[in-house]
Amino acid sequence: MSPPVNLGPIFRLEGEVRVPGDKSISHRALILGALARGRSYLGGLAPGEDVAHTASCLEACGVYIRIHGDGRAMVEGTGPVHALIAPAERLDCGNSGSTMRMLAGAVAGHPITVCLEGDASLMRRPMRRVAAPLQEMGAAVRLGPEGTAPMTVEGRRPLRAITFEPPVPSAQVKTAVLLAGLFADGPTTVVEPAPTRDHTERLLQLCGVQVARGDGRVTVAPAVLEPFGLRIPGDLSSAAFFLCMAAAREGWRVRCPDVGLNPGRNGVLDVLRAMGAGVEVAEGEPAGGVEPVGDVEVRGGILHGTRIEGALVPRLIDELPVIAVLATQAEGVTEIHDAAELRAKESDRIACLAAGLKRMGARCETLPDGLLIEGPTRLVPAAVDAAGDHRLAMAFAVAAGLCAAPGETRIAGAESVAISYPGFFEDLATLSAG
Ligand code: S3P
Repeated sequence: MSPPVNLGPIFRLEGEVRVPGDKSISHRALILGALARGRSYLGGLAPGEDVAHTASCLEACGVYIRIHGDGRAMVEGTGPVHALIAPAERLDCGNSGSTMRMLAGAVAGHPITVCLEGDASLMRRPMRRVAAPLQEMGAAVRLGPEGTAPMTVEGRRPLRAITFEPPVPSAQVKTAVLLAGLFADGPTTVVEPAPTRDHTERLLQLCGVQVARGDGRVTVAPAVLEPFGLRIPGDLSSAAFFLCMAAAREGWRVRCPDVGLNPGRNGVLDVLRAMGAGVEVAEGEPAGGVEPVGDVEVRGGILHGTRIEGALVPRLIDELPVIAVLATQAEGVTEIHDAAELRAKESDRIACLAAGLKRMGARCETLPDGLLIEGPTRLVPAAVDAAGDHRLAMAFAVAAGLCAAPGETRIAGAESVAISYPGFFEDLATLSAG
């Protein structure tokens, strides 16, 4: 166990920060690169532990990957003649739900058996949602009695093409089915209950695959993937911690250049505007010609509460912890509904977030599917537990910085920032040093 991190209030947040590469895109770029015929070249690969787990799992399946310290990477694709090979041991996905669910889809179309496992948090997370469609496609998928990992996938080729309607919106599950669909006997369709991030669809197009879209439906046909070059943009989910923190105080300002602006991911910017912060976006050239990218600047303002529900939720699901922290600084009630999925993330984010925020003096109430937060409150330093959840650790760090009383907030489980943003505390120190 690493010691807790202690953080005091900050007095100013000002400046520019280049956040690490997008985690969601990095997972997909590695997997699609592994399936392509030839070498793919990446820049800006996310440096965290989650993406490192995707890389090591692919390597265990016979993929040659070279990762340089500066975010450049080369992936030697195995397709179409060669293919993923059976790993000698179980694949360790660490803390990464994306690794486990997406790889399950990728290996389902290979005639190999793979057993996927992970850390204690990942072994508690729901996997039936991905096992069910892959079974319908003809792969044999076995889970524990609770519908959790270890998940054993016995793939086959070809799989049966299906039309799948996931009961909850999930980009990871959609991705697994689309990846399996590349090895099916006809076109495979996913019908989404609400739009989710569409990185997979965009990157498949970059690989030369025809993806038919419209009316909430995505269809792929079996295809050979062309190798590609991609400079991965900065991760808006990582930038969100600093952007939301800047929003909390008049006179504070943070600029994040070259961050991804995928429409399935940028709901946090809509919420910041709705709460009264100044948000400026300058769009640049799309990454690989397919992923929107831009510079984002947020200026603090006098904030008021807002309501977050429905189709907005999947567009900011990972940003809800830091949005909840910001809501403690806004006038009135912020309501978060339709977000029961938060309970199935790296931790039960509804319960753990509310517990920590209450200890810091916030007025907040949990709902089965969300939170009610009443502000503004003067947060006070306290001992809080991030429950080993990277996004909670960073959200509590933001809350610590916004405390209105002297003293240090003690964050247990803060080492988990390494899962998505290893340099988070250093970047926070730089922005608040001015
Ligand atoms: C992700 C999708 C979301 C998100 C996760 C990353 C992805 O999860 O919360 O952090 O990269 O596809 P779900 O697919 O479970 O909604």
